[in-house]
Amino acid sequence: MSRPVSAVSQMLERNQALFVGKRLLVCGALEDDYPRQLAELTDSLTVFTTDYCYYLSQQEALGDNILFDHQLGGAPRFDALLLLMPKAKAEAQYLLAMMAPLLEAGADLLLAGENRGGINGADKLLAPYGEKPIKRDSARRSSLYHGELGKPVAPFELEAWFSRYECLAGDTALTVMALPGVFSADGLDLGSQMLLASLPPMTGKLLDFGCGAGVIGSVLAKRNPALAVHMVDINALALESSRRTLAINGVQGKVYASDVYSDVAEKFQHIVSNPPFHAGLKTFYAATETFLEKAPGFLAANGSLTIVANAFLRYQPILDTHFKRTEVIGSDTKFRVYLSKV
Ligand SMILES: C[S@@+](CC[C@H](N)C(=O)[O-])C[C@H]1O[C@@H](n2cnc3c(N)ncnc32)[C@H](O)[C@@H]1O
Repeated sequence: MSRPVSAVSQMLERNQALFVGKRLLVCGALEDDYPRQLAELTDSLTVFTTDYCYYLSQQEALGDNILFDHQLGGAPRFDALLLLMPKAKAEAQYLLAMMAPLLEAGADLLLAGENRGGINGADKLLAPYGEKPIKRDSARRSSLYHGELGKPVAPFELEAWFSRYECLAGDTALTVMALPGVFSADGLDLGSQMLLASLPPMTGKLLDFGCGAGVIGSVLAKRNPALAVHMVDINALALESSRRTLAINGVQGKVYASDVYSDVAEKFQHIVSNPPFHAGLKTFYAATETFLEKAPGFLAANGSLTIVANAFLRYQPILDTHFKRTEVIGSDTKFRVYLSKV
């Protein structure tokens, strides 16, 4: 077994006495094979993740001990929780509220993450669950906090965690339901709005790639009653939000997890997306490059790809390489909508 490589895993390894003999619930991603070491130290190990890409990467090593979902239920059965800080604080609050009812009284609460990822807000995050946690360790811009479950825990109510808002996309009214940390959880993205205002009527089958809270697929299902809509994302909270957005708007769609095209097995007349990108980076997000390059293989004859992107992202050369024709069908100072045909 190789030594852990990430700063967080190395810090955890230095503190591994904390995990020995525990019934441990780990929530989040450790970017190396430290989870396998944890499996050997603990009495039992369950890894819960909302990230399908991480789930796929660990499935072979962890088998049934890794679970991908938006929620984990059941009776209290763990005596230690290790939460790897997610990007959004609201998501950390959601995950703690969801997992606390699975912990026995007095369980160890361990929060680890990079300092720039907000780990130093652990005090406040853990306040509803016990006394002030101690900072166990910090190294290479990462920290580990340790508290104890010392307060009574309320049952987890999924409903209470959805934000809900009404919006107008083009001329289509939509109600959006979104769990914490999901893209567009607080309001319709201006890029998605421009994309939806640019799209003509559609028939056949459509793939909404990176569906987030389900805005694009739900609006298009509402506008085009004969359209068969598929929606994919890697984030379990996004997938559940999309299911709820479809349902509350009274429209149908098939919603499933996929890391780019990992679980897509059909061809579509239309692929539509506001694809993920990492702001501030010179390069594209690798998954988005793969999404664009492989799109022709998932399009039917005469199929089309329509995406919206920030104007500073240079998508045109990639699209020109992989599609016969690409035109810009909408633009302003911030966004561009590209329509590409195979
Ligand atoms: C910019 S958001 C767009 C969300 C939504 N379509 C909208 O317009 O509001 C991009 C979405 O892509 C998802 N995503 C990121 N990487 C992915 C991947 N490798 N495969 C599938 N979806 C991915 C993210 O979770 C996020 O929900």
